[in-house]
Amino acid sequence: MLGDYFAEDTLKALRRLLQRTPVYGAYKALGHYPDYWYWILRGRPARSPHLLKQKVVREYGEKFGLKTLVETGTYYGEMVAAMKNRFDRIYSIEFVPALAERASKKFARHPHIRIFCGDSRVVMSEVLALLQGPALFWLDAGYYGWVGMQGDQQRLSAELEMILSHSYPHIILLDDARGLTGQNGIPSVNDVKSHIESKFPQRSVEVQFDIMRITLRG
Ligand SMILES: C[S@@+](CC[C@H](N)C(=O)[O-])C[C@H]1O[C@@H](n2cnc3c(N)ncnc32)[C@H](O)[C@@H]1O
Repeated sequence: MLGDYFAEDTLKALRRLLQRTPVYGAYKALGHYPDYWYWILRGRPARSPHLLKQKVVREYGEKFGLKTLVETGTYYGEMVAAMKNRFDRIYSIEFVPALAERASKKFARHPHIRIFCGDSRVVMSEVLALLQGPALFWLDAGYYGWVGMQGDQQRLSAELEMILSHSYPHIILLDDARGLTGQNGIPSVNDVKSHIESKFPQRSVEVQFDIMRITLRG
């Protein structure tokens, strides 16, 4: 028992150490395939693996002919890395300065990638102003609680309104749709769906594999 705790603590400490090194992104990416197969073996539970998320982002980019990707929540830059040869331009917004700095360095050799540091709710208008046509949005900035960061419950709806009211018919993918619980002031999936579809009648909203997809009707 004590041995188990020790092993777990040691693993955690090792991971924290690894997180500080530049190879952590590559280490995480290595885990994407086992993670995907383990998810299949477990009968495809709600939390979907990163490889599946990458597939969905790639497919929506291709389906709607979108060459610009906007991401909220850069984290270790896994989605940016996976999409870097699929889009002509990638903008990613990260709140935690150390993560943003790390990603900026990581992608410094790729002029078509820009990492913004700040709160996505604030930085979103700056990014929208840069767009010259429709883009694919990958909203993944832990909207309803991200390790220790609670707070702005209106952030998601504010960003959705900004994107949907913008001059171009952007396509939106929102990760972790299961976070839309309909409890403690958080809207439910149906609340979001009916709000968007009534305010923006040309839009359709559906959820599959924990990803909300806001596309164009018809
Ligand atoms: C789930 S991770 C993102 C994973 C990444 N999109 C990927 O696919 O590899 C969530 C990230 O959102 C960031 N975040 C949380 N609140 C934010 C905010 N208000 N603005 C921008 N980023 C935020 C967190 O620091 C964290 O890095």
